[in-house]
Amino acid sequence: MSVEIIILAAGQGTRMQSSLPKVLHQVAGKSLLRHVIETASQLEPAAIHVVVGHGAEQVQAECVDITGLQWHLQTERLGTGHAVMQAMPALAQDSQVVVLYGDVPLLRIESLRNLIEAGKTGPALLTAKLADPAGYGRILRSETGELLGVVEDKDASPEQRAIAEINTGVLASPAADLKHYLPEVKNDNSQGEYYLPDILPLVLQAGKSITSSLVTDEMDVLGVNDRVQLHAVEREYQLRTAQALMRQGVTLADAGRFDVRGNLRCGKNVFIDVNVVFAGDVVLGDDVRVGPNCVITNTRIGPGCEIHAFSHLEGAVAEQGASVGPYARLRPGTELAAGARIGNFVETKKARIGAGSKVNHLSYVGDCEMGDGVNVGAGTITCNYDGVNKHLTRIGDGVFVGSNSTLVAPVTIEADGFVAAGSTVTKTVGAGDLAVSRAKQRNIEGWQRPQKQSEGEG
Ligand code: UD1
Ligand code: CA
Repeated sequence: MSVEIIILAAGQGTRMQSSLPKVLHQVAGKSLLRHVIETASQLEPAAIHVVVGHGAEQVQAECVDITGLQWHLQTERLGTGHAVMQAMPALAQDSQVVVLYGDVPLLRIESLRNLIEAGKTGPALLTAKLADPAGYGRILRSETGELLGVVEDKDASPEQRAIAEINTGVLASPAADLKHYLPEVKNDNSQGEYYLPDILPLVLQAGKSITSSLVTDEMDVLGVNDRVQLHAVEREYQLRTAQALMRQGVTLADAGRFDVRGNLRCGKNVFIDVNVVFAGDVVLGDDVRVGPNCVITNTRIGPGCEIHAFSHLEGAVAEQGASVGPYARLRPGTELAAGARIGNFVETKKARIGAGSKVNHLSYVGDCEMGDGVNVGAGTITCNYDGVNKHLTRIGDGVFVGSNSTLVAPVTIEADGFVAAGSTVTKTVGAGDLAVSRAKQRNIEGWQRPQKQSEGEG
């Protein structure tokens, strides 16, 4: 039996107080819908159907890079049953259907496996037992505990409202049962909607079986209706990510002040201090230490590197034992060879810094190929841009660049070259040569400082 997924995502999300369709709000830097699609994909379904309505074009546009989605437009929002109906003609008669919600992003496939098994012979609901079931559809059972159906909160009696077991909304069912019973569902309820769970009593009346499966972790079914819930989901996601890393041997100074918006892979014995944000794909090698308040995006950091406080790294690579910061900014194309050091208030871009080379203070190094064992003094600037084009600065092995030097690209300083402090270098410096290009110092003996002029004069 092949599996087909239907994701309901037509809702506006009025309580989000936003012009953005609800399912496009983000958790961990990714839309709610994308999280659900990624979970769905893990089931290797024959098809993923997404039912959209409010902001349909915007929702589709956000997912353009995801292949194999089938979109269905629900022009009027007439309930979850009606929403599922929109995808019905596209479903294979013999497939098994799993209905997911676009605003329930933490659901893991472990929670779905039992449900899918249970839903092979007839509709199966994923249920949860909540301390506070207010707002949810309650699960109705016979005295012997057999599932009878769901009563929506708005339609429930006070006794029914006391039921702790709720409908998570997630349902698995043979497509044939949906196709057969869903068109018979009526909208004679307090909201005038076609409720998906209303197929359950119809299936039961036909003498067929319905069943349910209790979710393993109720946090899996946290839904997002407002920004308070969005925050709860975000923190739960981050906590899960943090715990998984800690179990792999990463020390976090505080799992509550740690954010991964993408994929973070860590080696052994990594330490991450507070308020570090990781985005995109980040790899930290063994024994890496990341200081507080760093932002690290699409970067690979080799074993034994230390990233000091308040550093910002994007699209960079650092080899073994390199050191960055505090207060450094590594922009895309920065490559630090083993043991290289980038110090405070240094910005690099498209720059290869050779093994053991140091740019320790207040510099800009952009479009630069630097050899090994180079020392770049404080305040050195590569002038890589002439207002139209970018040019390269080449610095050979063992070069010493004195402080406050200006290297006007394209320019080359050959191996072991020496640039005197305060120089503006515009021509090639030969191997082992000294370049001095600053005005000669002139001293005036007995110099009289200007005197303060008295009022009324001049
Ligand atoms: C639904 C369930 C309820 C369950 C709860 C869990 C029904 C009738 N009720 O209630 O039993 O406890 O979820 O959160 O199924 N949607 C559409 N089109 C529609 C209506 C809804 O796409 O016409 C989508 C929404 O965007 C949302 C999801 O379906 O993602 C659930 O809809 P919502 O209106 O929030 O249902 P609830 O009233 O919360
Ligand atoms: Ca809801």
